[in-house]
Amino acid sequence: MSTEKKLFIKTYGCQMNVYDSERISDALIPAGYTVTTDETQADLVLLNTCHIREKAAEKIYSELGRLKQLKLKKPDMKFGVAGCVAQAEGQEIINRQPMVDFVVGSQAYHRLPEMVKSVDEGGKPVEIDFPTEDKFDHIIRSKAKRKLPSAFLTVQEGCDKFCAFCVVPYTRGAEVSRPAQKIIDEAKQLVDQGVVEINLLGQNVNAYHGQGVDGEWSLARLIRELAKIDALKRIRFTTSHPNDMDDDLIAAHGDTEKLMPYLHLPVQAGSDKILKAMNRHHTAEEYLKVIERIRAARPDIALSGDFIVGFPGETEEDFQQTLDLCEIVRYGQAYSFKYSTRPGTPAAEWDQVDEAEKADRLRRLQTLLTKHQMDFQLSMVGKTLPVLLEKPARDPGQLVGKSEYLHAVHMDAAPELVGTIVQAKVTRTERNSLGAKIVTG
Ligand code: SAH
Ligand code: SF4
Ligand code: F3S
Repeated sequence: MSTEKKLFIKTYGCQMNVYDSERISDALIPAGYTVTTDETQADLVLLNTCHIREKAAEKIYSELGRLKQLKLKKPDMKFGVAGCVAQAEGQEIINRQPMVDFVVGSQAYHRLPEMVKSVDEGGKPVEIDFPTEDKFDHIIRSKAKRKLPSAFLTVQEGCDKFCAFCVVPYTRGAEVSRPAQKIIDEAKQLVDQGVVEINLLGQNVNAYHGQGVDGEWSLARLIRELAKIDALKRIRFTTSHPNDMDDDLIAAHGDTEKLMPYLHLPVQAGSDKILKAMNRHHTAEEYLKVIERIRAARPDIALSGDFIVGFPGETEEDFQQTLDLCEIVRYGQAYSFKYSTRPGTPAAEWDQVDEAEKADRLRRLQTLLTKHQMDFQLSMVGKTLPVLLEKPARDPGQLVGKSEYLHAVHMDAAPELVGTIVQAKVTRTERNSLGAKIVTG
């Protein structure tokens, strides 16, 4: 083992990247690295990147420009680019920014120890294959006590759906599910490290179909088995596709107490014409039927979604149908974006909607979504909710935790209560959080 070196990782994009960044640091521990949160102290700076929209990808180059200043002060500092921009652009990143020492695609993190060794020997490796072996199989998980009582656990990667706007099938490859036993073992290890809430991740997590002891397991089966782990109190999953919401998963929302009443189910648009052009393979009505069935199984479920406005061909009338759909569903939370052309995806070649029009539609949609979010938060005031306390809040003496519906909840609480679930009465609602008082602790 070499002398201790410091690794700084900056993570962009989705929760799968957050999980990957943890595993990247696990992979580099045997190569002599420890993680630092101070970039100026780092021997190796790694950007774990996102390619989903143009802005996200361009951010990486401006960040590399900024990091050049650090390199001037510390010439030995090494730089790596990981994640979805790495996967999409490969060698091009080094051509554009020669300061970068290596590029590692999203499925090759187990190769990192060899790659940093090659960098130390003067190489500039680029690894963007989709290897047949599972990257996670070759990375030993750190056994250190977890800082947070909530953790992500990737169960499925990649996507075969090829929505006409999306880079994920190209940056993450084909859909692959991890074997069920590996997930259960990892969940047990997380619980031993102090975790009480696990969020199962996948680009299409409800398409999970991993090998179990008695054949293929669905996500519902996996959740039911995980729920048997005593000290695990809460289970969540994200992100789901409407076409993969099977009966058993819907039923699990009604009968599996540890499965939280929150579902992120992106629809993207409310117009059937646009949904078809997007290659989503469902209509607005079919989506609403799924929502109805979920609400029948779990009436208090909080729904969340993603929306794209200004997709090629979207007229004002199509956009109105998105607003109409939101009025019907009344999401507790939602994410909305202007359509961004992505190289290599079909929709990039089509006639584009005017930028100013996109901006106007986004503003109108966000006004409506915010109103629904506020209404939902307001409906919590006066209620007593179980809250998992997670960490100190910005205000001294306060902790912040999560409601079952994924609200951030602030309250006065002793630091020892981190990791416990308390009953708290909601006293106020703010823009993106709730305030509460502990009823029992
Ligand atoms: N697998 C998930 C989404 C992954 S990407 C699903 O199928 O829903 C996360 C979100 O980014 C998408 O839901 C979509 O709303 C948004 N997004 C993806 N590509 C985009 C693009 N080209 N322009 C704008 N938003 C995009
Ligand atoms: Fe992208 Fe569509 Fe796959 Fe989601 S389902 S990751 S939006 S291609
Ligand atoms: Fe971005 Fe890759 Fe996630 S493109 S959203 S980091 S899968």
